[in-house]
Amino acid sequence: MTDRTATLSFSDGSPAVTFPMIAGSTGPEVIDIRTLYGKTGKFTYDPGFLSTASCQSKITYIDGDKGELLYRGYPIEQLAVHCDFLDVCYLLLYGELPNADHQKEFDARVTAHTMVNEQMQFFLRGFRRDAHPMAVMTGLVGALSAFYPDSMNLHDPKQRDISAIRLIAKMPTLVAMAYKYSMGQPYMYPRNELSYAANFMRMMFATPCEDYQVNPVLVRALDRIFILHADHEQNASTSTVRLCASSGTNPFAAIAAGVACLWGPAHGGANEAALNMLYEIQAQGGIARIGEFIAKVKDKNSNVKLMGFGHRVYKNYDPRAKLMRETCHEVLEALGLHDDPLFKLAMGLEKIALEDEYFVQRKLYPNVDFYSGIVQKAIGIPTSLFTAIFALARTVGWIAQLNEMIADPEYKIGRPRQLYKGATRRSVPAIDKR
Ligand code: SDX
Repeated sequence: MTDRTATLSFSDGSPAVTFPMIAGSTGPEVIDIRTLYGKTGKFTYDPGFLSTASCQSKITYIDGDKGELLYRGYPIEQLAVHCDFLDVCYLLLYGELPNADHQKEFDARVTAHTMVNEQMQFFLRGFRRDAHPMAVMTGLVGALSAFYPDSMNLHDPKQRDISAIRLIAKMPTLVAMAYKYSMGQPYMYPRNELSYAANFMRMMFATPCEDYQVNPVLVRALDRIFILHADHEQNASTSTVRLCASSGTNPFAAIAAGVACLWGPAHGGANEAALNMLYEIQAQGGIARIGEFIAKVKDKNSNVKLMGFGHRVYKNYDPRAKLMRETCHEVLEALGLHDDPLFKLAMGLEKIALEDEYFVQRKLYPNVDFYSGIVQKAIGIPTSLFTAIFALARTVGWIAQLNEMIADPEYKIGRPRQLYKGATRRSVPAIDKR
């Protein structure tokens, strides 16, 4: 709390009301309006929550103007270089980086839960082989609720912890199963001697017919993609998970709700949409046609957006996009694809957009999704699976945020109110009077 207050006065002479201000450890202060309705009989109105803090959190901090992203206070640029994804999972879940002993114990716990119940494969058989992987993942993650009765109670910290480990451990296995099912290939079981990202690569691309050699450059790139997507404060899917869990439902169902929300092209579906946009420009003539495409984007009637650009919070370069562009370069170099036309097209598009008044004026910069699709395509991941990979990585952030909410003694079931603009009370007319 601060001793600062905010006073609301009304032009109609209604009595002014005063609210306390609360300061964070950094970032904007909040006006604590929890007593507003009780004091005034009025609601605030903020569709899209542009000016609304839904909770207190200690997990992730974003400074949109500076283009800064901190996980538990550590800059993403340092975590991406000095840590692996499971270190970041430990940090997001427990608040501190693991020491060598913690790391060994946590990695072993996750590894021990990477298999899924054999019955899970029968859910996949219900889908067409060409089902979108996010449709499959929404189903599979929700279905986990049926398998772990010992970790369904959100209000028991031990059950929250084991369900967190299970979800982090099983997401790669489920995403790889969704991919293998779409390819008509047999599922590959996880291998306990492999790292988290290497295990995922093997489950994705190995077959029972021969040994699979992991490519350390690609594994490192994938691990970095996971780190960059792990959490991002109160974005749409995280807010969905918090609201869903606030009813006391089980963690698997709450995470399934996050998967469903992330699927949207304005959110996690943007990496798939950004790559498809690059394909479309390439098909129309590539770099020579960028000007024409940008003109379409600027034409409000076209409904065309520059996918992978813009962000509700970042009004500067998304720090993850910078790291993703570096990773893109490393992977393309390692694969001898440095002349990849799509990467060149993306850099051309980025350069033009960053100089164009429309984007400059609206502070539209590349976000995490702009380059992630190119990296994933170079690694061999199909476009339709990009958002499932995003969900795999974001699962730890969703869980950490969910756990923080449930552990907060102040939390209540989320139940926003509304500004009602519909018909006022009226009687039902007889059918011959309608
Ligand atoms: C993610 O919230 C998170 O943290 C999300 C995320 C995470 O890690 O969880 O960071 C992941 O979802 C990244 C964002 C991925 N989405 C895309 O790349 C899709 C394209 N971007 C846009 O749809 C848009 O920028 C949003 C949805 C990301 C943000 O939208 P806002 O904050 O609601 O802003 P807005 O739509 O009001 O845009 C402001 C102006 C508008 O123009 P005007 O009405 O002022 O004339 O900018 C324009 C918009 O039309 N605009 C774009 C644009 N993004 C915004 N114009 C063209 N191309 C774009 N990409």
